[in-house]
Amino acid sequence: MGIEIKTVGIIGAGQMGSGIAHVCSLAGLDVRMNDRDPERLKNGLATVNGNLQRQVSKGAITESQRRDAIEHIIAVDTFDDFGPCDLVIEAATEDEVIKRSIFSALCPSLRPETMVATNTSSISITRLAASTDRPERFIGIHFMNPVPVMQLVELIRGIATEDPTYESAKAFVRRLGKIVTVSEDFPAFIVNRILLPMINEAIYTLYEGVGSVDSIDTAMRLGANHPMGPLQLADFIGLDTCLSIMQVLYEGLADSKYRPCPLLVKYVEAGWLGRKTKRGFYDYRGAEPVPTR
Ligand SMILES: NC(=O)c1ccc[n+]([C@@H]2O[C@H](COP(=O)([O-])OP(=O)(O)OC[C@H]3O[C@@H](n4cnc5c(N)ncnc54)[C@H](O)[C@@H]3O)[C@@H](O)[C@H]2O)c1
Repeated sequence: MGIEIKTVGIIGAGQMGSGIAHVCSLAGLDVRMNDRDPERLKNGLATVNGNLQRQVSKGAITESQRRDAIEHIIAVDTFDDFGPCDLVIEAATEDEVIKRSIFSALCPSLRPETMVATNTSSISITRLAASTDRPERFIGIHFMNPVPVMQLVELIRGIATEDPTYESAKAFVRRLGKIVTVSEDFPAFIVNRILLPMINEAIYTLYEGVGSVDSIDTAMRLGANHPMGPLQLADFIGLDTCLSIMQVLYEGLADSKYRPCPLLVKYVEAGWLGRKTKRGFYDYRGAEPVPTR
């Protein structure tokens, strides 16, 4: 049943792509990583190296494991370099137009048996599969952020995903030491269907002046025992990604309760995308994060 995954291609070297490269290389898989932006690709590799280094200093892995892992990752410039891959995981920007154009450019470079997966947080797997030449070998493999730390991976089958594809994806995720949950193909699946409306509500709470950034995050950390406040978490996820997920929920479920908060829209329009741009609900340019409201 299914194929064994030995070589993995990753498209997008942002926070998720580099995290996926990290865990795949540590598991001894060969990794080929691509990004349309050469600078992001360089930074993605540096992030993996820095995070592996941190694991060595904490005693979580040995120096030789770090060296081995790094030797398993290569940066590639074109989709043709994904030819030897058994599985290609798309982890590019959360935008359906971008993802669809990646899949139609990617497929001609792949062997017929190669599986294709998306790490989308919210977009229909069935719709994305339809932009490939292999919907039966297409699946959602939704890693959580930060990938090296978080245990869960959601698997989402599209309408055409065949059993061997699902079995191979499950074996691949287990080889990485992660735990699988299965979600049906509905907007934002399980984790983000529940998490993102909570974050959006926290932004409404800020927008309506119920509390400041600090009071909202402190309230949820100490009052609901969340490990980080919802606005801090939004900055961590990326505000552009949060907005895209809310738009998918709003349009996909046609319910006004998912309306993205106008303040979230404004932050994204300003280019204040959270940690990755050093400014969001907090300003990260100094020694300590400072609330922006
Ligand atoms: N951030 C999270 O917490 C999180 C969690 C789970 C899943 N995801 C999903 O993972 C995906 C990536 O999110 P991220 O947080 O890593 O975003 P990010 O902004 O950190 O990185 C996205 C990367 O994709 C690259 N990219 C864009 N278009 C491309 C193209 N045509 N070809 C190659 N590369 C391209 C960008 O240059 C960028 O480096 C999204 O689908 C997101 O929804 C994000």
